[in-house]
Amino acid sequence: MTTALLTDKQKLKKPPLEIHYLGDRVLRQPAKRISQVNNEIRQLARTMLQTMYSADGIGLAAPQVGVNKQLIIVDLQPEEAANPPLIMVNPAIRQFSPEIELGQEGCLSIPGVYLDVKRPAMIEVAYKDEQGRPQVLFATELLARAIQHEIDHLTGIMFVDRVENLVLLNQELKEHGFSRHAVKPIAE
Ligand code: NI
Repeated sequence: MTTALLTDKQKLKKPPLEIHYLGDRVLRQPAKRISQVNNEIRQLARTMLQTMYSADGIGLAAPQVGVNKQLIIVDLQPEEAANPPLIMVNPAIRQFSPEIELGQEGCLSIPGVYLDVKRPAMIEVAYKDEQGRPQVLFATELLARAIQHEIDHLTGIMFVDRVENLVLLNQELKEHGFSRHAVKPIAE
């Protein structure tokens, strides 16, 4: 598979994978490590990319499409055909900055809901790329936030679990047809 195939950013009327929504149990299961980055994984990454671009997302984790594997994709420039997406296999955050930032998040599994979440401002993340090569990335700002959000999905955590403003949270969930009982608040 060539990089060109992986970076095709067309929006498809019928995306290849179905996105699961908050309340669906598949989103709450811990994902399994990928032992070998093979064609099956690359094909999964490609169909996840097609699904993410079609849904106007900037990140997607395999559990969101019902696949119990440690694979995430992130692309902060979905309109830029020349900018390759990040494909991360078995991503693990090695270091978090002590500095915390508040920023707005959304999720393709909770459409319409946008709320502020506190996260470490900077991270160092180790992963394997789509060729199975080990990589280390230092990320800040929105990229750091997006990667942390996607890695959360791999342990069954949804961003709404981290929202501290419960009044706004309940209001937003109700407005967009989600149950507050689907939220599992993170114990601090
Ligand atoms: Ni998400």
